[in-house]
Amino acid sequence: MSRTLGVLISGRGSNLQVILDAIDEGRLDAYVAIVISNKNDAPGLERARKAGATTAVLSHEDYDSREAFDEAVLGRLSEHDVEVVCLAGFMRILSPVLVRAFPNRILNIHPSLLPAFVGLHAQKQAVEHGVKVSGCTVHLVDEELDHGPILLQQTVPVLEDDTEETLSARILEQEHKLYTEAIRLVLDGKVRVDGRRAIIET
Ligand code: GAR
Repeated sequence: MSRTLGVLISGRGSNLQVILDAIDEGRLDAYVAIVISNKNDAPGLERARKAGATTAVLSHEDYDSREAFDEAVLGRLSEHDVEVVCLAGFMRILSPVLVRAFPNRILNIHPSLLPAFVGLHAQKQAVEHGVKVSGCTVHLVDEELDHGPILLQQTVPVLEDDTEETLSARILEQEHKLYTEAIRLVLDGKVRVDGRRAIIET
């Protein structure tokens, strides 16, 4: 497997930054060939440019369907010979067009312990539900939302006085540790998928 990544973002890009820093500092042996945002004002684009990565903005509003948008994204990823796709705060549901083009080679990071609290505002959902423990999950992407085989999870306690913001901040710290570790496992060929289970071979 080549070690060429494509990173998809929609916003702040702090997970993208961690990936770029890990590569820059020699902690992750990979190359970010392209960063694609579906929002032209995503702050993460500037982070990518500063790191010298190629960027592209593809606004989903310019396409008639989810599939047409994903075809355009796929076109850019293919142009850059991307082998593994990292969703880093990419707030779009992928169609089978992309998922089937990269079987078990699309990773997503989600701010809850899946399968709890899928979709938007996972940290708010956790606070409102009253769980005592939440966390983050890196998983392989399949055709259902926040659903594919789980690579790594990290727990984070939910405190009595937590708000969405305070819990999000503590989960984010853990996201930043977990994502590069999961990417490394995939790039090193250490992950075998058996049905719903991603088995890490050490
Ligand atoms: C992160 O908390 C990530 O887990 C979440 O969006 C944030 C993006 O932050 N993703 C999802 O909720 C996906 N369902 P970032 O842009 O600073 O990396």
